[in-house]
Amino acid sequence: MTLDTASEQQTQPLPHWESAPEDLPAAVREIKAALRNRIEASGRTVAEVFGVVEQRVAERVAEIKADRERSETVWPVIEYADIADGTVTAEALDKLRRRGCLVVRGHFDHQRARDWDADIVDYVEKNEFFENYRGPGDDFFGSVGSKPEIYPIYWSKAQMEARQSDRMATVQAFLNSQWQHESDGVQWFDPNRDSLYPDRIRRRPPGADSGGLGAHSDPGTLDLWMTEGYQRAFRHLFDGTVEDYDPWDAAHRTSGPQYPGTTMCSAFRTFQGWTALSDMDHDQGVLHTIPIPEAMAYLMLRPLLDDVPEDDMCGVTTNQVFPASEKWHSILIEAMSCIPDVKAGDSVWWHADMIHSVAPVTDQKGWGNVMYIPAAPWCPRNEEYAKNVRDAFLTGSSPTDFPEEHYEREWVDRFREDQLNQTGRRGLGLD
Ligand SMILES: [Fe+2]
Repeated sequence: MTLDTASEQQTQPLPHWESAPEDLPAAVREIKAALRNRIEASGRTVAEVFGVVEQRVAERVAEIKADRERSETVWPVIEYADIADGTVTAEALDKLRRRGCLVVRGHFDHQRARDWDADIVDYVEKNEFFENYRGPGDDFFGSVGSKPEIYPIYWSKAQMEARQSDRMATVQAFLNSQWQHESDGVQWFDPNRDSLYPDRIRRRPPGADSGGLGAHSDPGTLDLWMTEGYQRAFRHLFDGTVEDYDPWDAAHRTSGPQYPGTTMCSAFRTFQGWTALSDMDHDQGVLHTIPIPEAMAYLMLRPLLDDVPEDDMCGVTTNQVFPASEKWHSILIEAMSCIPDVKAGDSVWWHADMIHSVAPVTDQKGWGNVMYIPAAPWCPRNEEYAKNVRDAFLTGSSPTDFPEEHYEREWVDRFREDQLNQTGRRGLGLD
């Protein structure tokens, strides 16, 4: 092939589907062929490009194993005070960017977090949540009458106080600033304004048995290969410049559509996260991640290799979480690492694309209580979703990303509009 033909082919647009294609296997075959053509038009083979990514990931896996052998904590840990004072060391920053996840120690005062936990119990008991609980809204076979671990509760005073607190805004801005949020004259998101993405609460009691949650990633499903926005976001993987792929680049990620599904998150998140409301030991069914941000490149390119059936994206399909498996991603699974012990008031964060799982536990020691609060900075996608959030907040409804359970509509002591501070008002798009 001459260089001319190569560049011609390279600029040929990829087929794209801005809503989920009707015939998924046909679309998968079509996009795989088109992506392989694009890679080959750059003068490199798919195997060669994948090899670059595999090498980069393998180095990280080796680092993580070496850390483990030296009994060092794989997860970075940074004190809240250092984030607030701007005294995070260059070494700690480097580790955060290499590992893509973080525990913030002392994000909130220990007693404050425990008080929030007690407030939540008070709020749900006062409103007879357990008496009226109808079973998991997103599980058809959920057993009616059992006490839930995930509370589909969004608008308690505790959650809203945490979401709109200065301490939360400080950490979110710090995490957002790890991402490149401006390029080509576009500000992809505003690192200093969060959209207050409302999510649920988990309260897992002592003695609980839990099957955990398999390894998966949450940023999307087939839309990651099939929509124009994501094709641009992941352009370096497909156009012969794989070395330039940067998992911290937000370009083209903050506006496009997403394929709907029960597991979708409408918001763009720089980090997923939760705040601990109880002390939790690292062996009590806690969060694990594959702490390698570049693993996303591996997930995106792996289906293009020859050993994967033509109509299969390594198990990724719409309306289900994006799975990571021993079968297709064994090198990554080796790096799976648990959070260290955490205390109430610490918070836990992981890069938006990061593969994570929850370990199973039997006869859990102590409580396992968290409020899910991510970093979801203001951007076109989050501004759009904020309209729904505003309505849900004002009426006490479940936000539209979640099952339509609406427990809190008539509840007393729901957080009120006149209790919002400036961060809360800006986050909901009221100012
Ligand atoms: Fe997840």
